[in-house]
Amino acid sequence: MCGIVGYIGQNDTKEILLNGLEKLEYRGYDSAGIATLNNYGLHLFKAKGRIATLREKVDTTVASSIGIGHTRWATHGEPSEENAHPHQSSSGRFTLVHNGVIENYYELRDDYLSDVNLISETDTEVIIQLMEVLYNQYQDVAEAFRQTVALLKGSYAIALIDAEDQDTIYVAKNKSPLLIGLGEGFNVIASDAMATLKETNRYLEIHDKEVVLVNRNYVEIQKLDGIAVEREPYIAEIDAADIEKGTYAHFMLKEIDEQPFVMRKIIKAYQNQQGNIKLDASVEKAMLEADRIYIVAAGTSYHAGLIGKQMIERLANIPVEVHIASEFSYNMPLLSAKPLFIFISQSGETADSRAVLVRIKELGHSALTITNVPGSTLSREADYTLHLYAGPEIAVASTKAYTAQIAVLTILAVGTAKAKGMTLDFDPLQELAIVSSVMESLTDQKDTFQQIAIDLFTETRNAFFIGRGVDYFVAQEASLKLKEISYIQAEGFAGGELKHGTIALIEEGTPVIAIATQENVNYSIRGNVQEVAARGAKTCIFSMEGLHQDNDAFVLPQVHELLTPLVSVIPMQLLAYYAALHRDCDVDKPRNLAKSVTVE
Ligand code: F6R
Repeated sequence: MCGIVGYIGQNDTKEILLNGLEKLEYRGYDSAGIATLNNYGLHLFKAKGRIATLREKVDTTVASSIGIGHTRWATHGEPSEENAHPHQSSSGRFTLVHNGVIENYYELRDDYLSDVNLISETDTEVIIQLMEVLYNQYQDVAEAFRQTVALLKGSYAIALIDAEDQDTIYVAKNKSPLLIGLGEGFNVIASDAMATLKETNRYLEIHDKEVVLVNRNYVEIQKLDGIAVEREPYIAEIDAADIEKGTYAHFMLKEIDEQPFVMRKIIKAYQNQQGNIKLDASVEKAMLEADRIYIVAAGTSYHAGLIGKQMIERLANIPVEVHIASEFSYNMPLLSAKPLFIFISQSGETADSRAVLVRIKELGHSALTITNVPGSTLSREADYTLHLYAGPEIAVASTKAYTAQIAVLTILAVGTAKAKGMTLDFDPLQELAIVSSVMESLTDQKDTFQQIAIDLFTETRNAFFIGRGVDYFVAQEASLKLKEISYIQAEGFAGGELKHGTIALIEEGTPVIAIATQENVNYSIRGNVQEVAARGAKTCIFSMEGLHQDNDAFVLPQVHELLTPLVSVIPMQLLAYYAALHRDCDVDKPRNLAKSVTVE
Protein backbone atom coordinates (compact mmCIF):
# COMPACT_ATOMS: atom_id res chain seq x y z
CA MET A 1 0.00 0.00 0.00
CA CYS A 2 1.19 3.49 -0.86
CA GLY A 3 3.30 4.05 -3.91
CA ILE A 4 6.70 5.68 -4.19
CA VAL A 5 8.46 7.12 -7.21
CA GLY A 6 11.71 9.03 -7.49
CA TYR A 7 13.82 10.48 -10.30
CA ILE A 8 17.31 11.88 -10.57
CA GLY A 9 18.66 12.82 -14.01
CA GLN A 10 18.83 15.54 -16.63
CA ASN A 11 15.17 16.13 -17.42
CA ASP A 12 12.47 17.95 -15.52
CA THR A 13 11.16 15.78 -12.72
CA LYS A 14 7.54 16.83 -12.26
CA GLU A 15 5.95 14.99 -15.18
CA ILE A 16 7.98 11.83 -14.52
CA LEU A 17 6.87 11.81 -10.89
CA LEU A 18 3.22 12.59 -11.65
CA ASN A 19 3.04 10.02 -14.45
CA GLY A 20 4.68 7.45 -12.19
CA LEU A 21 2.26 8.19 -9.36
CA GLU A 22 -0.69 7.80 -11.71
CA LYS A 23 0.55 4.30 -12.52
CA LEU A 24 0.91 3.58 -8.79
CA GLU A 25 -2.48 4.95 -7.82
CA TYR A 26 -3.80 1.37 -7.50
CA ARG A 27 -1.63 1.13 -4.35
CA GLY A 28 -3.50 3.87 -2.52
CA TYR A 29 -5.29 7.03 -3.51
CA ASP A 30 -6.38 9.10 -0.54
CA SER A 31 -3.68 11.78 -0.81
CA ALA A 32 -0.48 12.40 -2.71
CA GLY A 33 2.54 14.66 -2.93
CA ILE A 34 5.83 15.37 -4.63
CA ALA A 35 9.01 17.15 -3.56
CA THR A 36 11.52 18.47 -6.09
CA LEU A 37 14.83 20.21 -5.57
CA ASN A 38 16.67 22.89 -7.59
CA ASN A 39 19.05 25.79 -7.00
CA TYR A 40 16.22 27.77 -5.42
CA GLY A 41 15.59 25.09 -2.82
CA LEU A 42 12.96 22.47 -2.13
CA HIS A 43 9.48 22.60 -3.69
CA LEU A 44 6.76 20.65 -1.95
CA PHE A 45 3.27 20.02 -3.34
CA LYS A 46 0.62 17.97 -1.56
CA ALA A 47 -3.06 17.30 -2.05
CA LYS A 48 -5.82 15.34 -0.40
CA GLY A 49 -7.45 12.97 -2.90
CA ARG A 50 -6.26 11.69 -6.24
CA ILE A 51 -3.18 12.45 -8.32
CA ALA A 52 -5.40 14.52 -10.62
CA THR A 53 -5.93 16.95 -7.71
CA LEU A 54 -2.21 17.03 -6.99
CA ARG A 55 -1.52 17.74 -10.66
CA GLU A 56 -3.66 20.88 -10.46
CA LYS A 57 -1.62 22.13 -7.50
CA VAL A 58 1.87 21.54 -8.87
CA ASP A 59 3.53 24.75 -10.01
CA THR A 60 4.42 24.04 -13.63
CA THR A 61 7.06 26.78 -13.73
CA VAL A 62 9.32 25.04 -11.18
CA ALA A 63 11.93 22.94 -13.03
CA SER A 64 14.24 20.49 -11.32
CA SER A 65 16.10 17.28 -12.06
CA ILE A 66 15.71 15.46 -8.75
CA GLY A 67 12.54 14.61 -6.85
CA ILE A 68 10.44 12.08 -4.97
CA GLY A 69 6.68 11.42 -4.92
CA HIS A 70 4.11 9.41 -3.02
CA THR A 71 0.50 8.26 -3.25
CA ARG A 72 -0.99 7.26 0.08
CA TRP A 73 -3.32 4.70 1.65
CA ALA A 74 -3.72 6.00 5.19
CA THR A 75 -2.56 3.87 8.10
CA HIS A 76 -1.59 6.44 10.78
CA GLY A 77 -3.71 9.57 10.61
CA GLU A 78 -6.64 10.51 8.38
CA PRO A 79 -6.19 11.37 4.72
CA SER A 80 -5.25 15.07 4.77
CA GLU A 81 -2.62 17.37 3.35
CA GLU A 82 -0.85 17.41 6.68
CA ASN A 83 -0.55 13.64 6.76
CA ALA A 84 0.23 13.33 3.04
CA HIS A 85 3.82 12.58 2.08
CA PRO A 86 6.52 13.83 1.51
CA HIS A 87 7.27 14.70 5.15
CA GLN A 88 10.02 17.05 6.25
CA SER A 89 12.39 17.33 9.18
CA SER A 90 11.96 20.37 11.45
CA SER A 91 14.66 22.42 9.73
CA GLY A 92 13.27 21.50 6.30
CA ARG A 93 16.61 20.06 5.26
CA PHE A 94 15.48 16.42 4.85
CA THR A 95 12.37 15.28 2.98
CA LEU A 96 11.05 11.75 2.87
CA VAL A 97 8.41 9.43 1.40
CA HIS A 98 7.57 6.14 3.07
CA ASN A 99 5.47 3.06 2.40
CA GLY A 100 4.87 0.63 5.29
CA VAL A 101 4.34 0.78 9.01
CA ILE A 102 6.98 1.66 11.61
CA GLU A 103 6.22 -0.62 14.54
CA ASN A 104 8.53 1.04 17.06
CA TYR A 105 7.21 4.49 16.27
CA TYR A 106 6.29 5.30 19.91
CA GLU A 107 9.65 4.07 21.25
CA LEU A 108 11.58 6.11 18.67
CA ARG A 109 9.51 9.19 19.44
CA ASP A 110 10.03 8.80 23.19
CA ASP A 111 13.73 7.85 23.01
CA TYR A 112 14.95 10.34 20.39
CA LEU A 113 12.34 12.99 19.67
CA SER A 114 11.16 14.35 23.01
CA ASP A 115 12.38 17.85 21.96
CA VAL A 116 10.87 17.71 18.48
CA ASN A 117 7.47 19.12 17.61
CA LEU A 118 5.77 16.52 15.38
CA ILE A 119 3.20 18.11 13.10
CA SER A 120 1.53 15.14 11.44
CA GLU A 121 -0.14 12.05 12.89
CA THR A 122 1.97 9.72 10.77
CA ASP A 123 4.59 7.16 11.76
CA THR A 124 6.58 8.43 8.78
CA GLU A 125 7.37 11.79 10.35
CA VAL A 126 9.26 9.97 13.08
CA ILE A 127 11.73 8.65 10.48
CA ILE A 128 12.55 12.02 9.01
CA GLN A 129 12.85 13.74 12.40
CA LEU A 130 15.07 10.93 13.60
CA MET A 131 17.23 11.42 10.50
CA GLU A 132 17.76 15.06 11.43
CA VAL A 133 18.60 14.24 15.05
CA LEU A 134 21.14 11.65 13.91
CA TYR A 135 22.56 13.96 11.25
CA ASN A 136 23.20 16.55 13.95
CA GLN A 137 25.08 13.86 15.82
CA TYR A 138 27.11 12.29 12.94
CA GLN A 139 27.41 15.30 10.58
CA ASP A 140 27.40 12.86 7.68
CA VAL A 141 24.19 12.32 5.70
CA ALA A 142 24.90 8.76 4.48
CA GLU A 143 25.94 7.67 7.97
CA ALA A 144 22.91 9.32 9.58
CA PHE A 145 20.69 7.60 7.01
CA ARG A 146 22.20 4.17 7.75
CA GLN A 147 21.86 4.77 11.49
CA THR A 148 18.25 5.86 11.06
CA VAL A 149 17.39 2.79 9.02
CA ALA A 150 19.12 0.55 11.56
CA LEU A 151 16.77 1.83 14.26
CA LEU A 152 13.55 1.18 12.31
CA LYS A 153 11.39 -1.81 13.11
CA GLY A 154 8.51 -2.81 10.88
CA SER A 155 7.96 -2.46 7.16
CA TYR A 156 9.32 0.37 5.11
CA ALA A 157 10.29 1.47 1.65
CA ILE A 158 11.73 4.96 1.91
CA ALA A 159 13.28 7.58 -0.34
CA LEU A 160 14.88 10.70 1.10
CA ILE A 161 16.36 13.86 -0.37
CA ASP A 162 18.65 16.40 1.24
CA ALA A 163 17.99 20.07 0.40
CA GLU A 164 21.76 20.64 0.31
CA ASP A 165 22.55 17.89 -2.19
CA GLN A 166 21.03 17.67 -5.67
CA ASP A 167 23.03 14.58 -6.56
CA THR A 168 21.67 11.86 -4.29
CA ILE A 169 18.43 10.13 -3.38
CA TYR A 170 18.80 7.92 -0.29
CA VAL A 171 16.75 4.77 -0.44
CA ALA A 172 16.11 1.78 1.85
CA LYS A 173 13.60 -1.01 2.24
CA ASN A 174 12.40 -3.75 4.55
CA LYS A 175 9.42 -5.97 3.69
CA SER A 176 7.84 -3.28 1.46
CA PRO A 177 8.66 -3.35 -2.26
CA LEU A 178 11.04 -0.86 -3.90
CA LEU A 179 13.13 -1.06 -7.08
CA ILE A 180 15.81 1.06 -8.70
CA GLY A 181 15.39 1.62 -12.44
CA LEU A 182 18.60 2.22 -14.37
CA GLY A 183 19.02 4.69 -17.24
CA GLU A 184 21.72 6.59 -19.15
CA GLY A 185 22.47 9.72 -17.13
CA PHE A 186 19.46 9.16 -14.91
CA ASN A 187 18.04 6.66 -12.46
CA VAL A 188 14.56 6.14 -11.07
CA ILE A 189 12.98 4.62 -7.97
CA ALA A 190 9.61 2.93 -7.91
CA SER A 191 7.40 0.69 -5.80
CA ASP A 192 6.54 -1.15 -9.00
CA ALA A 193 8.37 -1.18 -12.34
CA MET A 194 5.03 -0.29 -13.97
CA ALA A 195 5.46 3.27 -12.70
CA THR A 196 8.65 3.98 -14.59
CA LEU A 197 8.46 1.70 -17.64
CA LYS A 198 8.42 4.79 -19.86
CA GLU A 199 11.89 5.66 -18.55
CA THR A 200 13.55 2.23 -18.45
CA ASN A 201 13.06 -1.53 -18.42
CA ARG A 202 16.35 -2.27 -16.55
CA TYR A 203 15.86 -2.71 -12.82
CA LEU A 204 17.89 -3.52 -9.73
CA GLU A 205 16.37 -5.34 -6.80
CA ILE A 206 16.97 -3.97 -3.32
CA HIS A 207 17.03 -6.50 -0.52
CA ASP A 208 15.61 -5.98 2.94
CA LYS A 209 17.77 -3.87 5.25
CA GLU A 210 19.96 -2.52 2.48
CA VAL A 211 20.43 1.18 1.80
CA VAL A 212 21.02 2.58 -1.66
CA LEU A 213 22.62 5.87 -2.71
CA VAL A 214 21.12 6.79 -6.06
CA ASN A 215 23.03 9.30 -8.19
CA ARG A 216 22.42 10.32 -11.85
CA ASN A 217 25.33 8.22 -13.05
CA TYR A 218 25.65 5.43 -10.54
CA VAL A 219 23.83 3.46 -7.89
CA GLU A 220 25.57 2.22 -4.77
CA ILE A 221 23.93 -0.52 -2.72
CA GLN A 222 25.23 -0.89 0.82
CA LYS A 223 24.59 -3.06 3.81
CA LEU A 224 23.70 -1.24 7.01
CA ASP A 225 27.37 -1.28 8.03
CA GLY A 226 28.26 0.64 4.85
CA ILE A 227 29.82 -2.33 3.00
CA ALA A 228 29.04 -2.14 -0.72
CA VAL A 229 26.99 -4.88 -2.41
CA GLU A 230 27.22 -5.79 -6.10
CA ARG A 231 24.07 -6.84 -7.94
CA GLU A 232 23.20 -7.44 -11.59
CA PRO A 233 20.14 -5.67 -13.04
CA TYR A 234 17.29 -7.57 -14.72
CA ILE A 235 14.94 -6.66 -17.53
CA ALA A 236 11.32 -6.08 -16.46
CA GLU A 237 9.17 -8.16 -18.80
CA ILE A 238 6.11 -5.93 -18.80
CA ASP A 239 4.47 -4.87 -22.02
CA ALA A 240 3.67 -1.14 -21.80
CA ALA A 241 0.30 -1.83 -23.52
CA ASP A 242 -0.69 -4.11 -20.62
CA ILE A 243 -0.78 -1.19 -18.24
CA GLU A 244 -2.94 1.08 -20.40
CA LYS A 245 -6.74 0.98 -20.56
CA GLY A 246 -6.81 1.31 -24.34
CA THR A 247 -10.38 1.82 -25.51
CA TYR A 248 -11.92 0.45 -22.31
CA ALA A 249 -13.76 2.69 -19.86
CA HIS A 250 -12.23 0.81 -16.93
CA PHE A 251 -9.33 -1.53 -16.23
CA MET A 252 -11.77 -3.94 -14.56
CA LEU A 253 -13.72 -4.46 -17.78
CA LYS A 254 -10.50 -4.86 -19.77
CA GLU A 255 -9.24 -7.41 -17.26
CA ILE A 256 -12.53 -9.35 -17.31
CA ASP A 257 -12.22 -9.53 -21.09
CA GLU A 258 -8.60 -10.69 -20.89
CA GLN A 259 -9.50 -13.89 -19.03
CA PRO A 260 -9.81 -16.17 -22.10
CA PHE A 261 -6.33 -15.06 -23.25
CA VAL A 262 -4.89 -15.63 -19.78
CA MET A 263 -6.27 -19.20 -19.85
CA ARG A 264 -4.49 -19.78 -23.15
CA LYS A 265 -1.26 -18.32 -21.80
CA ILE A 266 -1.44 -20.63 -18.79
CA ILE A 267 -2.11 -23.67 -20.98
CA LYS A 268 0.93 -22.79 -23.11
CA ALA A 269 3.21 -22.10 -20.15
CA TYR A 270 2.41 -25.35 -18.34
CA GLN A 271 2.43 -27.65 -21.38
CA ASN A 272 5.34 -29.81 -22.56
CA GLN A 273 6.12 -30.71 -26.17
CA GLN A 274 3.93 -33.82 -25.96
CA GLY A 275 0.98 -31.64 -24.96
CA ASN A 276 0.96 -32.85 -21.34
CA ILE A 277 1.09 -30.83 -18.14
CA LYS A 278 4.60 -29.70 -17.25
CA LEU A 279 5.39 -28.89 -13.63
CA ASP A 280 8.78 -28.10 -12.20
CA ALA A 281 10.29 -31.34 -10.81
CA SER A 282 11.00 -29.66 -7.47
CA VAL A 283 7.35 -28.58 -7.12
CA GLU A 284 6.18 -32.09 -7.97
CA LYS A 285 8.55 -33.54 -5.38
CA ALA A 286 7.35 -31.11 -2.69
CA MET A 287 3.72 -32.04 -3.42
CA LEU A 288 4.49 -35.76 -3.34
CA GLU A 289 6.33 -35.51 -0.03
CA ALA A 290 3.56 -33.53 1.69
CA ASP A 291 1.12 -35.39 3.92
CA ARG A 292 -1.13 -32.29 4.16
CA ILE A 293 -1.30 -28.99 2.34
CA TYR A 294 -2.06 -25.68 4.02
CA ILE A 295 -3.29 -23.00 1.64
CA VAL A 296 -2.88 -19.48 3.04
CA ALA A 297 -4.31 -16.39 1.34
CA ALA A 298 -6.53 -13.32 1.70
CA GLY A 299 -9.70 -12.02 0.03
CA THR A 300 -10.22 -13.15 -3.53
CA SER A 301 -7.09 -15.29 -3.42
CA TYR A 302 -8.53 -17.08 -0.38
CA HIS A 303 -11.67 -17.78 -2.41
CA ALA A 304 -9.50 -19.29 -5.16
CA GLY A 305 -7.81 -21.38 -2.43
CA LEU A 306 -11.18 -22.87 -1.42
CA ILE A 307 -11.60 -24.13 -4.97
CA GLY A 308 -7.97 -25.28 -5.05
CA LYS A 309 -8.64 -27.45 -2.00
CA GLN A 310 -11.36 -29.32 -3.89
CA MET A 311 -9.10 -29.79 -6.91
CA ILE A 312 -6.15 -31.09 -4.93
CA GLU A 313 -8.20 -33.37 -2.68
CA ARG A 314 -10.29 -34.79 -5.50
CA LEU A 315 -7.59 -35.14 -8.12
CA ALA A 316 -4.39 -35.74 -6.15
CA ASN A 317 -5.87 -37.24 -2.99
CA ILE A 318 -3.89 -35.06 -0.56
CA PRO A 319 -5.76 -33.47 2.37
CA VAL A 320 -5.86 -29.67 2.21
CA GLU A 321 -6.76 -26.96 4.70
CA VAL A 322 -7.43 -23.38 3.58
CA HIS A 323 -6.66 -20.53 5.98
CA ILE A 324 -7.29 -16.79 6.00
CA ALA A 325 -3.80 -15.33 6.26
CA SER A 326 -4.59 -12.68 8.87
CA GLU A 327 -6.09 -15.33 11.20
CA PHE A 328 -3.52 -18.06 10.77
CA SER A 329 -1.09 -16.97 13.48
CA TYR A 330 -3.86 -16.63 16.09
CA ASN A 331 -5.76 -19.77 15.13
CA MET A 332 -2.79 -21.84 14.10
CA PRO A 333 -3.92 -25.40 13.38
CA LEU A 334 -2.07 -28.45 14.61
CA LEU A 335 0.33 -29.08 11.77
CA SER A 336 0.83 -32.50 10.19
CA ALA A 337 4.23 -34.22 10.16
CA LYS A 338 5.14 -33.14 6.61
CA PRO A 339 3.18 -30.01 5.75
CA LEU A 340 3.54 -28.02 2.54
CA PHE A 341 2.31 -24.43 2.59
CA ILE A 342 0.85 -22.86 -0.53
CA PHE A 343 0.56 -19.07 -0.57
CA ILE A 344 -1.80 -17.69 -3.18
CA SER A 345 -1.33 -14.01 -3.89
CA GLN A 346 -1.87 -11.92 -6.98
CA SER A 347 0.54 -9.22 -5.83
CA GLY A 348 2.95 -11.44 -3.91
CA GLU A 349 3.21 -8.59 -1.39
CA THR A 350 0.28 -9.15 0.98
CA ALA A 351 1.62 -8.53 4.49
CA ASP A 352 -0.83 -10.91 6.20
CA SER A 353 0.36 -13.78 4.01
CA ARG A 354 3.96 -12.80 4.39
CA ALA A 355 3.70 -12.85 8.18
CA VAL A 356 2.60 -16.50 7.93
CA LEU A 357 5.39 -17.30 5.48
CA VAL A 358 8.00 -15.86 7.85
CA ARG A 359 6.52 -17.85 10.74
CA ILE A 360 6.38 -21.20 8.95
CA LYS A 361 9.90 -20.71 7.59
CA GLU A 362 11.09 -20.22 11.17
CA LEU A 363 9.45 -23.58 11.91
CA GLY A 364 11.40 -25.11 9.02
CA HIS A 365 8.49 -25.85 6.65
CA SER A 366 8.45 -25.62 2.86
CA ALA A 367 6.43 -23.09 0.94
CA LEU A 368 5.17 -22.70 -2.59
CA THR A 369 3.87 -19.31 -3.77
CA ILE A 370 1.36 -19.00 -6.59
CA THR A 371 1.57 -15.41 -7.77
CA ASN A 372 1.22 -13.02 -10.64
CA VAL A 373 4.50 -11.31 -9.73
CA PRO A 374 7.38 -13.80 -9.72
CA GLY A 375 9.96 -11.36 -8.28
CA SER A 376 7.65 -10.37 -5.41
CA THR A 377 8.43 -10.84 -1.73
CA LEU A 378 6.26 -13.95 -1.30
CA SER A 379 7.86 -15.46 -4.37
CA ARG A 380 11.42 -14.70 -3.33
CA GLU A 381 10.96 -15.93 0.21
CA ALA A 382 9.18 -19.19 -0.65
CA ASP A 383 11.00 -22.32 -1.83
CA TYR A 384 9.03 -22.62 -5.06
CA THR A 385 6.92 -20.35 -7.25
CA LEU A 386 4.20 -20.97 -9.82
CA HIS A 387 3.48 -17.99 -12.06
CA LEU A 388 -0.07 -16.95 -12.95
CA TYR A 389 0.77 -15.35 -16.32
CA ALA A 390 -2.22 -13.02 -15.93
CA GLY A 391 -0.33 -9.84 -16.87
CA PRO A 392 -0.58 -6.72 -14.69
CA GLU A 393 -3.90 -6.49 -12.88
CA ILE A 394 -4.60 -2.83 -12.20
CA ALA A 395 -8.27 -2.60 -11.17
CA VAL A 396 -8.44 -2.95 -7.41
CA ALA A 397 -11.10 -5.68 -7.72
CA SER A 398 -9.33 -8.85 -8.76
CA THR A 399 -10.81 -10.72 -11.73
CA LYS A 400 -8.30 -12.27 -14.11
CA ALA A 401 -5.89 -13.16 -11.29
CA TYR A 402 -8.68 -15.14 -9.57
CA THR A 403 -9.41 -17.30 -12.61
CA ALA A 404 -5.68 -17.65 -13.28
CA GLN A 405 -5.21 -18.86 -9.69
CA ILE A 406 -7.91 -21.52 -10.15
CA ALA A 407 -6.40 -22.62 -13.47
CA VAL A 408 -2.88 -22.91 -12.00
CA LEU A 409 -4.23 -24.78 -8.97
CA THR A 410 -5.93 -27.19 -11.39
CA ILE A 411 -2.64 -27.71 -13.18
CA LEU A 412 -0.88 -28.28 -9.87
CA ALA A 413 -3.50 -30.83 -8.79
CA VAL A 414 -3.42 -32.67 -12.11
CA GLY A 415 0.40 -32.60 -12.32
CA THR A 416 0.60 -34.04 -8.81
CA ALA A 417 -1.97 -36.73 -9.58
CA LYS A 418 0.02 -37.76 -12.66
CA ALA A 419 3.29 -37.74 -10.71
CA LYS A 420 1.58 -40.10 -8.26
CA GLY A 421 0.78 -42.43 -11.15
CA MET A 422 -2.97 -41.77 -10.96
CA THR A 423 -4.98 -41.76 -14.17
CA LEU A 424 -7.59 -39.14 -14.90
CA ASP A 425 -10.64 -39.59 -17.07
CA PHE A 426 -10.29 -36.17 -18.71
CA ASP A 427 -7.66 -34.12 -20.50
CA PRO A 428 -7.19 -31.04 -18.28
CA LEU A 429 -5.52 -28.84 -20.88
CA GLN A 430 -8.21 -29.66 -23.40
CA GLU A 431 -10.86 -28.82 -20.78
CA LEU A 432 -9.14 -25.53 -19.96
CA ALA A 433 -9.13 -24.68 -23.67
CA ILE A 434 -12.92 -25.26 -23.69
CA VAL A 435 -13.17 -22.99 -20.62
CA SER A 436 -11.34 -20.24 -22.46
CA SER A 437 -13.81 -20.39 -25.39
CA VAL A 438 -16.78 -20.37 -23.01
CA MET A 439 -15.31 -17.39 -21.17
CA GLU A 440 -15.10 -15.58 -24.49
CA SER A 441 -18.73 -16.32 -25.31
CA LEU A 442 -19.73 -14.98 -21.88
CA THR A 443 -17.74 -11.78 -22.14
CA ASP A 444 -19.47 -11.24 -25.51
CA GLN A 445 -22.85 -11.11 -23.76
CA LYS A 446 -22.24 -8.02 -21.66
CA ASP A 447 -25.62 -6.46 -22.53
CA THR A 448 -27.44 -9.40 -20.96
CA PHE A 449 -25.49 -9.13 -17.69
CA GLN A 450 -25.83 -5.36 -17.69
CA GLN A 451 -29.62 -5.69 -17.88
CA ILE A 452 -29.69 -8.28 -15.08
CA ALA A 453 -27.51 -5.99 -12.93
CA ILE A 454 -29.83 -3.05 -13.55
CA ASP A 455 -32.90 -5.17 -12.66
CA LEU A 456 -31.37 -6.58 -9.50
CA PHE A 457 -29.19 -3.90 -8.04
CA THR A 458 -30.33 -0.41 -9.03
CA GLU A 459 -32.53 0.07 -5.98
CA THR A 460 -31.27 -2.46 -3.46
CA ARG A 461 -29.20 -1.97 -0.33
CA ASN A 462 -28.35 -5.65 0.08
CA ALA A 463 -28.06 -8.89 -1.89
CA PHE A 464 -27.35 -12.58 -1.36
CA PHE A 465 -25.46 -15.04 -3.49
CA ILE A 466 -26.08 -18.70 -2.75
CA GLY A 467 -24.61 -21.98 -3.94
CA ARG A 468 -23.77 -25.46 -2.75
CA GLY A 469 -20.51 -27.34 -3.10
CA VAL A 470 -18.07 -25.48 -5.30
CA ASP A 471 -20.82 -22.98 -6.25
CA TYR A 472 -20.82 -21.79 -2.65
CA PHE A 473 -17.19 -20.71 -3.04
CA VAL A 474 -18.05 -18.80 -6.21
CA ALA A 475 -20.98 -17.22 -4.34
CA GLN A 476 -18.50 -15.91 -1.76
CA GLU A 477 -16.34 -14.39 -4.49
CA ALA A 478 -19.40 -12.96 -6.26
CA SER A 479 -20.49 -11.19 -3.07
CA LEU A 480 -17.01 -9.80 -2.42
CA LYS A 481 -16.88 -8.39 -5.98
CA LEU A 482 -20.29 -6.76 -5.62
CA LYS A 483 -19.71 -5.21 -2.21
CA GLU A 484 -16.20 -3.90 -2.84
CA ILE A 485 -17.05 -1.93 -5.96
CA SER A 486 -20.78 -1.12 -5.65
CA TYR A 487 -20.95 -0.78 -1.83
CA ILE A 488 -24.08 -2.97 -1.76
CA GLN A 489 -24.09 -5.08 1.43
CA ALA A 490 -23.75 -8.58 -0.03
CA GLU A 491 -23.19 -12.03 1.40
CA GLY A 492 -22.18 -15.33 -0.18
CA PHE A 493 -24.01 -18.16 1.53
CA ALA A 494 -24.19 -21.93 1.46
CA GLY A 495 -27.69 -22.54 0.11
CA GLY A 496 -28.68 -24.85 2.92
CA GLU A 497 -27.47 -22.51 5.65
CA LEU A 498 -29.81 -19.56 5.03
CA LYS A 499 -32.73 -21.19 6.85
CA HIS A 500 -30.59 -21.45 9.99
CA GLY A 501 -30.89 -17.73 10.65
CA THR A 502 -30.01 -15.45 7.77
CA ILE A 503 -33.30 -16.03 5.95
CA ALA A 504 -34.72 -13.56 8.49
CA LEU A 505 -33.12 -10.81 6.36
CA ILE A 506 -35.09 -11.70 3.24
CA GLU A 507 -37.73 -9.08 2.48
CA GLU A 508 -39.92 -8.22 -0.46
CA GLY A 509 -37.55 -7.63 -3.39
CA THR A 510 -34.25 -8.72 -1.75
CA PRO A 511 -32.07 -9.99 -4.61
CA VAL A 512 -30.93 -13.62 -4.18
CA ILE A 513 -28.67 -14.90 -6.94
CA ALA A 514 -28.19 -18.67 -7.05
CA ILE A 515 -25.34 -20.42 -8.83
CA ALA A 516 -26.35 -23.93 -9.88
CA THR A 517 -23.67 -25.72 -11.87
CA GLN A 518 -23.37 -29.00 -9.94
CA GLU A 519 -25.54 -31.98 -10.71
CA ASN A 520 -25.45 -33.48 -7.19
CA VAL A 521 -26.94 -30.33 -5.62
CA ASN A 522 -29.12 -29.11 -8.47
CA TYR A 523 -32.39 -29.96 -6.78
CA SER A 524 -31.39 -28.86 -3.31
CA ILE A 525 -30.14 -25.42 -4.40
CA ARG A 526 -33.35 -24.92 -6.37
CA GLY A 527 -35.25 -25.84 -3.20
CA ASN A 528 -33.35 -23.10 -1.36
CA VAL A 529 -34.31 -20.63 -4.08
CA GLN A 530 -37.98 -21.59 -3.59
CA GLU A 531 -37.65 -20.95 0.15
CA VAL A 532 -36.45 -17.38 -0.34
CA ALA A 533 -38.85 -16.71 -3.24
CA ALA A 534 -41.72 -17.71 -0.94
CA ARG A 535 -40.59 -14.93 1.39
CA GLY A 536 -40.55 -12.24 -1.29
CA ALA A 537 -36.96 -12.44 -2.60
CA LYS A 538 -36.26 -11.43 -6.18
CA THR A 539 -34.51 -14.63 -7.30
CA CYS A 540 -32.24 -15.22 -10.22
CA ILE A 541 -30.64 -18.57 -11.13
CA PHE A 542 -27.42 -18.99 -13.11
CA SER A 543 -27.42 -22.64 -14.12
CA MET A 544 -25.39 -24.88 -16.40
CA GLU A 545 -26.46 -26.41 -19.67
CA GLY A 546 -27.86 -29.85 -19.00
CA LEU A 547 -29.01 -28.88 -15.50
CA HIS A 548 -31.08 -25.87 -16.47
CA GLN A 549 -34.82 -25.33 -16.11
CA ASP A 550 -37.32 -22.93 -17.59
CA ASN A 551 -37.09 -19.41 -16.17
CA ASP A 552 -33.41 -19.65 -15.21
CA ALA A 553 -31.95 -16.17 -15.65
CA PHE A 554 -28.95 -17.43 -17.57
CA VAL A 555 -27.70 -20.82 -18.73
CA LEU A 556 -23.92 -21.20 -18.83
CA PRO A 557 -22.44 -23.35 -21.62
CA GLN A 558 -21.25 -26.68 -20.28
CA VAL A 559 -17.66 -27.18 -19.09
CA HIS A 560 -16.08 -29.98 -17.04
CA GLU A 561 -17.80 -30.13 -13.63
CA LEU A 562 -14.52 -29.41 -11.78
CA LEU A 563 -13.91 -26.27 -13.80
CA THR A 564 -17.33 -24.60 -13.51
CA PRO A 565 -16.05 -21.83 -11.15
CA LEU A 566 -13.90 -20.54 -14.01
CA VAL A 567 -16.99 -19.77 -16.05
CA SER A 568 -19.71 -19.14 -13.47
CA VAL A 569 -17.66 -16.31 -11.98
CA ILE A 570 -17.59 -14.33 -15.25
CA PRO A 571 -21.27 -13.24 -15.09
CA MET A 572 -20.76 -12.49 -11.39
CA GLN A 573 -17.83 -10.18 -12.18
CA LEU A 574 -19.88 -8.47 -14.88
CA LEU A 575 -22.90 -8.09 -12.58
CA ALA A 576 -20.66 -6.38 -10.02
CA TYR A 577 -19.11 -4.19 -12.69
CA TYR A 578 -22.44 -2.99 -14.08
CA ALA A 579 -23.96 -2.57 -10.62
CA ALA A 580 -21.08 -0.26 -9.69
CA LEU A 581 -21.24 1.56 -13.01
CA HIS A 582 -24.97 2.26 -12.68
CA ARG A 583 -24.56 3.44 -9.12
CA ASP A 584 -21.88 5.89 -10.26
CA CYS A 585 -19.14 4.26 -8.20
CA ASP A 586 -15.45 4.53 -9.02
CA VAL A 587 -15.12 1.01 -10.45
CA ASP A 588 -11.34 0.76 -10.62
CA LYS A 589 -10.58 2.56 -7.37
CA PRO A 590 -13.27 1.77 -4.80
CA ARG A 591 -13.29 3.76 -1.59
CA ASN A 592 -11.03 2.77 1.32
CA LEU A 593 -9.20 0.07 -0.67
CA ALA A 594 -5.82 -0.42 -2.26
CA LYS A 595 -4.59 -3.10 -4.60
CA SER A 596 -1.57 -4.33 -2.76
CA VAL A 597 -2.19 -4.71 0.97
CA THR A 598 1.25 -4.39 2.49
CA VAL A 599 0.18 -3.71 6.08
CA GLU A 600 -1.02 -6.37 8.54
C1 F6R B 1 -10.55 -8.32 -3.99
C2 F6R B 1 -9.10 -8.37 -3.90
C3 F6R B 1 -8.51 -8.66 -2.57
C4 F6R B 1 -7.21 -9.45 -2.72
C5 F6R B 1 -6.52 -9.59 -1.36
C6 F6R B 1 -5.25 -10.42 -1.47
O1 F6R B 1 -10.96 -8.07 -5.31
O2 F6R B 1 -8.40 -8.13 -4.84
O3 F6R B 1 -9.41 -9.34 -1.75
O4 F6R B 1 -7.49 -10.70 -3.27
O5 F6R B 1 -6.21 -8.33 -0.86
O6 F6R B 1 -4.37 -9.85 -2.35
P1 F6R B 1 -3.23 -10.71 -3.02
O7 F6R B 1 -3.89 -11.72 -3.91
O8 F6R B 1 -2.41 -9.73 -3.79
O9 F6R B 1 -2.47 -11.39 -1.92
